[in-house]
Amino acid sequence: MSRLPRAQEYLKTGFTAEAASAAKFRAAARHAEKEGKPRLAQAWLELAAEKDELAIRQLEAAGQVRAADADLASALAEERYENEALYPRMKREVDGETATIFDGVVGKQQEHLARLESLLDALSRSTGDLAS
Ligand SMILES: [Fe+2]
Repeated sequence: MSRLPRAQEYLKTGFTAEAASAAKFRAAARHAEKEGKPRLAQAWLELAAEKDELAIRQLEAAGQVRAADADLASALAEERYENEALYPRMKREVDGETATIFDGVVGKQQEHLARLESLLDALSRSTGDLAS
């Protein structure tokens, strides 16, 4: 189905909103766990899973979930952009403590980049799923 640009844009907005909620709910779950409230933590996690589902549904409707190699290639492009442009630019404009947080994110994302590259490579050498 081909959608009008506005519908496409709104599906992405919905995706971003629900994906952010899912992450916030997981943060709340971690906090509840630290406060010794495991049942509250569990409730947050269940809601987070439902938010993930709503995010996925909208991303799929927007046609943004494609073949495995295309999804890997776009994940790689996003990670590179964030590591090489987005975080370095933001880092230049913030205090040292915040800059350190961004450095930590980029460091971890470099590992993600390497993992995504090796997945793409492994996939290019197989005809179906990754070899076990
Ligand atoms: Fe990222």
